[in-house]
Amino acid sequence: MRLLVTGGAGFIGSNFVHQVIRSTDHQVAVIDKLTYAGNPESLADLPSDRFQLVEGDICDTAVIDSLVSQSDAVVHFAAESHNDNSIAEPSPFVHTNLVGTFRVLEAVRRHGKRLHHISTDEVYGDLELDDPAKFTPDTPYNPSSPYSASKAGSDLLVRAWVRTYGVRATISNCSNNYGPRQHVEKFIPRQITNLLDGRRPRLYGAGANVRDWIHVDDHNAAVLAVLERGRTGETYLIGADGELSNRQVVELILAEMGHPAGDYDLVKDRPGHDLRYAIDAGKLRDELGWRPVYRDFRDGLRATIDWYRNNEAWWRPAKAAVEAKYQANQQ
Ligand code: NAD
Ligand code: DAU
Repeated sequence: MRLLVTGGAGFIGSNFVHQVIRSTDHQVAVIDKLTYAGNPESLADLPSDRFQLVEGDICDTAVIDSLVSQSDAVVHFAAESHNDNSIAEPSPFVHTNLVGTFRVLEAVRRHGKRLHHISTDEVYGDLELDDPAKFTPDTPYNPSSPYSASKAGSDLLVRAWVRTYGVRATISNCSNNYGPRQHVEKFIPRQITNLLDGRRPRLYGAGANVRDWIHVDDHNAAVLAVLERGRTGETYLIGADGELSNRQVVELILAEMGHPAGDYDLVKDRPGHDLRYAIDAGKLRDELGWRPVYRDFRDGLRATIDWYRNNEAWWRPAKAAVEAKYQANQQ
């Protein structure tokens, strides 16, 4: 199969490309705009007879049309992905996440190609901290931030293109990913690289918000399962029962890196900060037989810390600008 991967120079997309090259014999083309979040280094050393990187914008009709026409299936990761950025400047989120997804949909419609759309659990809004409920595919959409609203809109476009035009698409909504090659603006890499730099971790608000962590390789294995065996028009929720409060995550990072448990700062909260996410992945498990490999968050976290220790050249160029932005916002 010839796969077109949008956003393949980003965190999850680049790990997906590595997994596909490792575990299948598919050919892979990546289209990536190489925004601040895209790093070609994440795709270094891939075999040139099976992989190519095209620098381009998914909003560019001619470019996306040509690449889609040469592929058998499209896996659509490309997006503006960071909530804090969307609160400061929503415009690129509306453009890439909505207009970009529209352009991808039109291209797959014209050429009759299979599409898998990557989305987030944040489209469902949030859950109370003490609520035993989890998100299911039937939970109503209720996004909170410009980022999650733009992702919710992109999902609805995909659903409409399936129903009205018969586009062969599936959607997956995943919880918070962690692992190698994640940008230092995100929670876990920010705290690890702060500690490597002799700074204290920063927790928004009281650190009580809960996220449902999944290793990026488990997410991507689920994406491959949906791509290969998922039913057209269906939505699959991806999660690995990894609920932890932000404070618990920081305490684990501090312990793994040899620092005292209370060695963090509480900083200004995120406006509209979602309280808790939790995924019921029963449909994915029952229909497609997917199971997470990283069952112990500590093991995956330790490997992730090691990756940042051993790959400073990868993250260092972005670190100062990210911290300056957070500092200007008292975070
Ligand atoms: P990321 O920000 O690390 O990567 C996004 C990539 O998209 C970057 O390489 C960037 O250059 C590229 N891109 C942005 N705009 C583009 C455009 N107009 N044209 C082409 N390329 C463009 O994001 P990520 O964390 O890897 O997330 C990937 C996808 O997974 C997103 O759709 C996101 O909503 C979704 N998702 C992320 C998580 C998570 O925890 N990170 C969880 C669930 C779903
Ligand atoms: O749930 C899936 C989503 O997870 C994806 O759709 C998004 O693309 C991805 O960025 C992520 O969104 P979050 O907003 O949950 O992730 P972030 O890494 O920004 O923050 C995780 C939690 O940590 C959140 O509650 C905010 C908090 N936080 C974040 C930073 C950067 C802190 O307490 N301190 C920080 O320095």
